[in-house]
Amino acid sequence: MTPLLLDGKEASKALLEFLQPLVETLDPKLVVVQVGDDPSSESYIKQKMKSCEKVGMRNEHRHLDASTSFEELMAVIDELNKDDDVTGFFVQLPLPDQLNDRVPEIIKAIDPMKDIDGFGAYNLGKMFLGKEYEHLPPATPSGIIRLLEHFDIEIAGKHVVVVGRSNTVGKPVAIMLLNRNATVTICHSKTKDLEDQIRKADIVIAAVGKPKMITADMVKDGAVVVDVGIHRTEDGLCGDTDFKGLESKVSAISPVPGGVGPMTVASLIRNCVTAKERQMAIR
Ligand SMILES: NC(=O)c1ccc[n+]([C@@H]2O[C@H](COP(=O)([O-])OP(=O)(O)OC[C@H]3O[C@@H](n4cnc5c(N)ncnc54)[C@H](OP(=O)(O)O)[C@@H]3O)[C@@H](O)[C@H]2O)c1
Repeated sequence: MTPLLLDGKEASKALLEFLQPLVETLDPKLVVVQVGDDPSSESYIKQKMKSCEKVGMRNEHRHLDASTSFEELMAVIDELNKDDDVTGFFVQLPLPDQLNDRVPEIIKAIDPMKDIDGFGAYNLGKMFLGKEYEHLPPATPSGIIRLLEHFDIEIAGKHVVVVGRSNTVGKPVAIMLLNRNATVTICHSKTKDLEDQIRKADIVIAAVGKPKMITADMVKDGAVVVDVGIHRTEDGLCGDTDFKGLESKVSAISPVPGGVGPMTVASLIRNCVTAKERQMAIR
């Protein structure tokens, strides 16, 4: 069986094309705050800026020195919160050591109306109220849902197993799936019968952060697999699933690279557009 490729390049292109006229009309501005020079961050930021350029969205890259103190970073956040010309911004993670323990405080300081990463408690909490309150959902979960929708993968009534329970991927995607009437099981490192759980899934969301951990023997025939993981190995990039092994068993699968990654970036741009719409409605 040749599975349907859940091509994130195709789906993100469609989303960006949909957003382009809205960007033209609303003229939002996105700001990325980077502290230090983490090599992965450099590449993620480049992709985000490139997508801004594609849709004609104004953007700014605030690159702060690796030695930036907590107080200095908070002053930048305060300035961006107060600047009416800035629609949305985020602080690229990971942060240098002196700031890493204070990430919750840093995220909390971002105005929820400008929190386009959707990592703050206000935007995360609103998702619990239902689909209609998912105004600024975290970009990766939102991208996963959009990827499934783009390829007409039915969610309602399906049993979805999410492997991983991080606050940025596993937990919020589980809530978003629940909001769309899936039956959701969330697995994590303490789950005793992981393989049995995964084998029951119509849809598997792999957000475990372990290269090629989910293999063909763990999934049922015809399952849909979305691979969120991204790992740089000696053989190049790979995800949390064994793509090659799964290909002959599943009905649809997302590749790495070119699956969830581009959807995350497009969803971030979408959040910036939504943020501008909501700010204009309030003003
Ligand atoms: N493509 C994108 O745009 C994008 C965006 C974000 C993240 N990612 C990638 O997605 C992956 C997950 O990211 P994340 O931030 O959610 O990672 P994370 O914060 O490290 O969380 C990993 C989760 O997997 C669980 N886990 C670890 N080992 C396990 C095992 N052996 N069995 C079952 N569960 C296990 C952990 O359980 P515990 O909670 O019990 O520790 C945790 O909940 C990473 O590869 C990351 O690079 C990609």
